[in-house]
Amino acid sequence: ARVVVLVSGSGTNLQALLDAAADPSFGAEIVAVGADRDGIEGLRRAERASVPTFIVRLADHPDRPAWDIALADAVAQHDPDLVVLAGFMKLTGPAFLGLYAGRTLNTHPALSPAFPGMHGPRDALEYGVKITGATLFVVDEGVDTGPIVAQVAVPVLDEDDEDALHERIKTSERRMLVEWVGRLARDGYIVDGRRIVSPPPTS
Ligand code: GRF
Repeated sequence: ARVVVLVSGSGTNLQALLDAAADPSFGAEIVAVGADRDGIEGLRRAERASVPTFIVRLADHPDRPAWDIALADAVAQHDPDLVVLAGFMKLTGPAFLGLYAGRTLNTHPALSPAFPGMHGPRDALEYGVKITGATLFVVDEGVDTGPIVAQVAVPVLDEDDEDALHERIKTSERRMLVEWVGRLARDGYIVDGRRIVSPPPTS
């Protein structure tokens, strides 16, 4: 399967996918990496792996709908089967979802439906939960609301600050992302309401 990954930051989730995809049996080929900003480590990771990159900045467009159309166009140039948002810190819009609804995965550093939005680890700490984690889901128009592919639980320790907790979550998050992107890329999947199911076997 052809996969485009979108990033906004350090790109450690991207790196885990690039490393896994070095083995062709992984089933997912990272054909391009896109970002909404320049100068980020995520783009440098792609360059080091000789994967083509593109940047679609909100500031270069008159408004969000125009940015959304430009992002959809830029992704479509690479004709992906799957799009993975790996720490992409913007909501995709209707133009993007018009092309890639059902085929876009996102990872969120909390156990949905708890703590959606930009600050999953901070919100979990403030609430005082003892277990949080990460959620891989199929993107819909909401904020971290789409059908859940997989979740992994991570303990919150008494001495945690936001960074320590987020780093512990990310260690598990990367493993989950690699496992499931590979599996979905190899086997395909069907979104049936809120459930992700295997496609019927082809004879
Ligand atoms: C991940 O925890 C992702 O879920 C969150 O931001 C982090 C991105 O980390 N939204 P990285 O850029 O992959 O290192």
